[in-house]
Parts: sequence; C-alpha cells; structure tokens
Amino acid sequence: MSKPAHVFILTGAGISAESGLQTFRDKGGLWAKYDWRALATPDAFARDPAHVLEFYDLRRQAVRQAQPNPAHEAIARLQQRFRGRVTLVTQNVDDLHERADSPEVIHMHGSHLTARCCACDHRWPAPSQLRVSDPCPACGARPCRPDVVWFGEIPHHLDQIAEALADCDLFVAIGTSGTVQPAASLAHAARAAGAHTLALNLQRTENSNLFDETRLGPASRIVPEWVERMLAC
Ligand code: APR
Repeated sequence: MSKPAHVFILTGAGISAESGLQTFRDKGGLWAKYDWRALATPDAFARDPAHVLEFYDLRRQAVRQAQPNPAHEAIARLQQRFRGRVTLVTQNVDDLHERADSPEVIHMHGSHLTARCCACDHRWPAPSQLRVSDPCPACGARPCRPDVVWFGEIPHHLDQIAEALADCDLFVAIGTSGTVQPAASLAHAARAAGAHTLALNLQRTENSNLFDETRLGPASRIVPEWVERMLAC
C-alpha cells in the first residue's frame, strides 16, 4: 500500500497484555475469572456498588503498576511522525497509550483513571480507592462510579469515530477479539468507505473475515515491525 493519507487504529486489551494487564477473553482472562454481569453493568452497580468499586480499584492498581510496551511506543512514534493523520481509538480503559506519549487517544470505553458522578456527570481523577461514601466534588451526590462504559451502555465519541472511519484509507485493529459491538464492526465501516483493513493480533478472531490482511504474533513485536515499515514509506 502506498503512504496512507489517514490511518485509523483501534486497539484492544491484547496490546496491553505484554505490559502485564489481563485481557478479557483469553484463557485465564478477566471474564473467565470474574462474572462481568456482577461487575460491568449498570444493574450490577445499582445492586452492589461497593463490590463493583472494589473490582475497579484492583484494576486501577494493576494499571498503575503496568508500563507501556514497544507496541504502545511504536504507535506514539507513528502519531508523532504522521501528525494529525492518525486517529487512535482504544477500547482499553488504561492510560498506557498516553504514558507512551501518544498525543491524542480516543477512549470509546472510558477510562479507569477518572470517576464520574451519576447525578451531574462531573468527572475527576479517580482516587486509588473510590468508596460508596465518597461524594461528588461538584454536587455532593453519592455513590459515584468508575468512568468506564459498561455492557448495555453507549460507548463514547461515536460521532468523532464515525467521521474518522469515513475518511480513513487504512484501518488497523490491534489486540482485539472483535466480539463487542460497536467496536467489532468498525472494520466493516472502514471497508465500506474504501479503506484497506489490517489486523495485528496473537490469533485469528471472530471478525477476521473483515480484514484484507492479518499478521499474527505478539503486539510488542508485530506492531513495531508494522510501524517501521510505515515510517519507511
Ligand atoms: N499481542 C497481540 N494480541 C494479543 C496478545 C498479544 N500479546 N495477547 C492477547 N491478544 C489478543 C487475543 O488473541 C484477543 O484476540 O487480544 C485479544 C483480546 O481480546 P479480549 O480479551 O476480548 O479484549 P478486547 O477485544 O479488547 O475486548 C473488548 O470487551 O469486556 C469488554 O469493555 C471490554 O473493551 C473490552 C471489550
């Protein structure tokens, strides 16, 4: 492919696996160990907010102990070199892209690192432990919730994502199983807009048929290899 005018990158939990953060659906993944119905839905939070908040405290602690890996760093290099021509959308709620110096990251599933008020939607940096009794700093309501998108909720920034998909000529999915909508269908929208689609993943996925090209291997190896080829264009 000649030098793309606009690259759309979608990352999933697999890009952070080699940083020590568990994925969701791999063997031994989070949803094999925990029941997402009891932790990642609005009903679960309404039923037992303390239990949900404790789970996200543990995840936030794991994120704080993790470091970006060569895949995050390579994407940041690409964004810096192709200024303004790379849209980076992540399903991840960690901040490893930001800590790898990615200039702009669109978190479609929210972020572990902010808390959100259920009453006034105020957002603020989440404390290491968010408690049911912690009031919203803006309106005093409680309990406050993690600023992540739960199952059954609408992801963030969908208009901005749709606009970038319609304009991109290369769509790259990295480390995602292609099982959760609408993220799993973004490759389809990109193809419909005429983009070339590439999957960089450890194994083939449920939506592999949406990709013109698939390269298999650990992200920390195959993502820098891909970026070096892009930078040599
Ligand atoms: N390098 C590349 N890919 C990897 C690696 C690795 N080192 N390790 C795992 N993978 C791949 C797996 O093969 C799998 O295809 O990453 C993918 C991870 O899939 P999931 O665990 O389903 O994570 P993800 O696709 O991001 O999940 C999407 O589901 O639960 C929700 O909100 C949550 O954002 C999450 C969404």
